[in-house]
Amino acid sequence: MRQAGRYLPEYRKVRETSSFLELCRSPELAVEVSLQPFRRFAPDGVIFFSDILVPAQAMGVRVEFGEGGPELPEPVRSSVDVERLRRFDPTREIAFTGEILAALRREVGGRAAVLGFAAAPWTLASYLVEGGGSKSFVIIKQMMGRDQPTLKRLLDLLADVTADVLSFQIECGAQAVQLFDTWAGELAQEDYRAWALPAAARVIARIRRRGAPVILYVNGCAHLIGSMAESGADVLSIDWRLPLSEARQRAPRLALQGNLDPGALMGTPEEVARRTRSLVEETGGRAHIVNLGHGVLPQTPIECVESFFEAARRAVSREPARLSAENP
Ligand code: CP3
Repeated sequence: MRQAGRYLPEYRKVRETSSFLELCRSPELAVEVSLQPFRRFAPDGVIFFSDILVPAQAMGVRVEFGEGGPELPEPVRSSVDVERLRRFDPTREIAFTGEILAALRREVGGRAAVLGFAAAPWTLASYLVEGGGSKSFVIIKQMMGRDQPTLKRLLDLLADVTADVLSFQIECGAQAVQLFDTWAGELAQEDYRAWALPAAARVIARIRRRGAPVILYVNGCAHLIGSMAESGADVLSIDWRLPLSEARQRAPRLALQGNLDPGALMGTPEEVARRTRSLVEETGGRAHIVNLGHGVLPQTPIECVESFFEAARRAVSREPARLSAENP
């Protein structure tokens, strides 16, 4: 969940001399910023530094990163626009992502798992159609209501591109991959099941035989968790609005990831530790990747991130022992 970023002074330092997209495209710099949180916190997983919009650029879309997040000045709004998008060969167009992953595997050795990621088709389509972030998603919802063949073609294409991208990441060293369907929580359950879920499931089915576990994240997933469990993912990554104990009841067969509110890290380190311990108590530390419920906020005090890691490490080392004593 956005391990690297502006909450780290060493990241801000690298960003003084390079733009965000330069960072993404330079293996040397991307490896350096991927390793910054690993050096500080020694997490069990290291996500490679990139962005969900890097593949969009390779499809031929103009992408810019301004102060307010990503901007796509030529959005995809019609069937003609969709026809212009390219399915591309990752080994040619985004070879740098493979170099970053391979170098990270070498640097991290066996000390942590290296994770790849991509946007799920619905979330990538949201950026392409809206032309950037959105509050209401009114343009893609208009397409969903009035031009279904175009949206279907777009999602199918994005599912194939995303499967190509994730397959390439796994070949280059990603040991697990996370599919970010950040904006699918904006959909009613009926629409999630009609549009976002089948597209994410198509990606997962296409990469399944490569053997890397797949983690599916949806922000605002409380109404969708039962449907997400049908995606084929191995792990469901949960935002903070849904208690993990309830997620476990509604998706009992899958591992869970999450779900501390990133906003809780704005409080005191003691409170962060208490909240982190209670997350682990909710799952008993079983089939649970302790994480935040979304990305670290740029304003986050570092001592609170440290407190999260320390509390998580202590809690998971205690829970399994307690459990096995209770249930031999
Ligand atoms: O090191 C890591 O943890 C990998 C980092 C990572 C980034 N983007 C780097 C980034 C990951 C996993 C992403 C995925 C991503 N990008 C998502 C899905 C995950 C999520 O958070 O829901 C989304 C929706 C995006 C699109 C995106 N990229 C947005 C909305 C923004 C602006 C966010 C902000 O805080 O300004 C970005 C830019 C971005 N991607 C930054 C980073 C570190 C900030 C760039 C900077 O100013 O230096």
